[in-house]
Amino acid sequence: MRAAIHRRYGPPEVLRIEEVPMPSVGRRDVRVRVHASTVTSGDARLRAARTAAIFALPIRLAFGLRGPRRPIPGMEFAGEVEAVGADVTRFRPGEAVFGIVTRGANAEYLTVRDDAAIVPMPPGLTHAEAAAVPFGALAALVFLRDVARLVPGERVLVVGAAGGVGVFAVQIAKHLGAHVTALCSAENAALVRGLGADAVIDRRAGPNGASAGGFDILLDTVGETRFAEWRAALAPRGRHLFLSFGLGEMVRMVLTSVGHGPRALCGFVANDPAALAGIAEMLAAGVLRPVIGSRYRLDDIVEAHRHVDSGRKRGSAVISLIDPC
Ligand SMILES: NC(=O)c1ccc[n+]([C@@H]2O[C@H](COP(=O)([O-])OP(=O)(O)OC[C@H]3O[C@@H](n4cnc5c(N)ncnc54)[C@H](OP(=O)(O)O)[C@@H]3O)[C@@H](O)[C@H]2O)c1
Repeated sequence: MRAAIHRRYGPPEVLRIEEVPMPSVGRRDVRVRVHASTVTSGDARLRAARTAAIFALPIRLAFGLRGPRRPIPGMEFAGEVEAVGADVTRFRPGEAVFGIVTRGANAEYLTVRDDAAIVPMPPGLTHAEAAAVPFGALAALVFLRDVARLVPGERVLVVGAAGGVGVFAVQIAKHLGAHVTALCSAENAALVRGLGADAVIDRRAGPNGASAGGFDILLDTVGETRFAEWRAALAPRGRHLFLSFGLGEMVRMVLTSVGHGPRALCGFVANDPAALAGIAEMLAAGVLRPVIGSRYRLDDIVEAHRHVDSGRKRGSAVISLIDPC
């Protein structure tokens, strides 16, 4: 099968397309013929081993010291079950599925365990649309519902609202009953309003664009906000959520966990099958709409990574492995 491969960390040019053996199917495995995958900000970070200093060693210990132990990148996938192991009862060959893994989805075939984050594809979606969902929607759902414990009526500011996580944060915050303000560049204002944002702040305005005490939750998807600078924009019991964070934010989280006043919160999102099933239900109910900002073929993987590295990605950058997908 054909797959994107990188054997060392570095710029997009470390990526190649190679012919590699098909992944084998163990007793509890599901082999998926991948129709569509994506390049997420997480894939681009891992390709470059680009991380906050405090995570540099742990990331290399987990993924490979000099280069990735598992050389095929790609987290999100949608496709058709091609084969199942002897003990698999949840899936059947021919079934349309989508999901998220840590590595390996930028390939024609992918093997995942049947209890991993893989679920039937909701009707009415294309493979490209389904592949564009798990990474951003899981992060948005977990941070807003579980970390911030958003309650209806709260005022939410989403920073980076047009990105892979942001487009779902706007929609999920609205679905959970929030008043949503989106912070993004002017050319993305119409996109985020179309997703349900009640108000939009131009990215160039920064904290000056926000009224004092105006927000109960500030969800920063891009690591652009500092707690001290934005503190005045938060309500007394406000929560400042950091998806991209380093030692400074972790210290803030500890310091603000005691006493009164706004809190800093950060954490990692797991590829949780139950949360993904909830997202599939939201897709089926029409609560969530995928946003595909750009499309590539597998052969254009380097170009796709360059685009993600630009920091100007809108929604998802989809990789088609079968046309049309
Ligand atoms: N903690 C976790 O478990 C977890 C989970 C998922 C993701 N993440 C992290 O979350 C981050 C965001 O992921 P993503 O997939 O949403 O990224 P992305 O899709 O690459 O974000 C691109 C968007 O960021 C916006 N942006 C860039 N610079 C900005 C700035 N200075 N101010 C405001 N907006 C800016 C751009 O919007 P405009 O052009 O409109 O400005 C662009 O649309 C990544 O660092 C990722 O690693 C963490």
